[in-house]
Amino acid sequence: MDKITIPEHIAIIMDGNGRWAKKRGLPRVKGHYEGAKGVRGIVESCSDIGVKYLTLYAFSTENWKRPKAEIWALMALLKRFLKAELKTMMKNDIRFKTIGDIKKLPSDVRAEIKSVTKKTALNRGLTFILALNYGSRPEIVKAARAIAKECVEGKINPSSIDESVFEKHLDTCDIPDPDLLIRTSGEMRISNFLLWQLSYSEFYITDVLWPDFDKKELKKAVREYSKRERRFGETRKKAVKE
Ligand code: FPP
Repeated sequence: MDKITIPEHIAIIMDGNGRWAKKRGLPRVKGHYEGAKGVRGIVESCSDIGVKYLTLYAFSTENWKRPKAEIWALMALLKRFLKAELKTMMKNDIRFKTIGDIKKLPSDVRAEIKSVTKKTALNRGLTFILALNYGSRPEIVKAARAIAKECVEGKINPSSIDESVFEKHLDTCDIPDPDLLIRTSGEMRISNFLLWQLSYSEFYITDVLWPDFDKKELKKAVREYSKRERRFGETRKKAVKE
């Protein structure tokens, strides 16, 4: 059997909760509820197989345009999820972090995020990152603004700005770029997710809807990733020998 390479960092666009519910004649919120159960399983599986970083796109800056009741339900689910999962995170040595502008989230959700982040900060296993009120363009603009401010204040010289300086100003500053991006429910879009960080990631798009994306599906994605030859813009290793 071929050797399986475990990606150090997996990022996932969790899509298809609404379609999952519609197919069953259920309200959209029920799809999100099942989706949250799926998150629990995938976090556990990633921790088990030795993934070091897992980033899940849970709420985008564009998701505020959804009906108020759906937003409210997502926030309530998030709070309940964090409360319920703290014990498992501690048991499995999982460190929790967020990216995105959490200042705009309801204060009770923010308090739960801060508490779980603090309590798990010293854990050394999987780093589990939720992208919340996250959009890649606002993240890039915020970084550019912070760098411009440092230039005006004379703290850095414009000629010293390079990729590593820029990366240090992104929300993901202490997180390596994703090796594998998974998107469920078949859509061929990035949807404003980690535009900078996904430059050299391998993409895996599956028709499976998020609530059905289980451990077996994750293993399928990792097996597919193992078959890819990552070249980072270089020539194929095989072609060099030819
Ligand atoms: C996309 O499905 C999913 C979301 C916008 C949110 C993801 C949320 C969860 C998985 C549940 C809550 C998360 C946590 C971490 C507790 P969609 O509604 O856009 O599906 P559709 O495209 O089929 O309508």
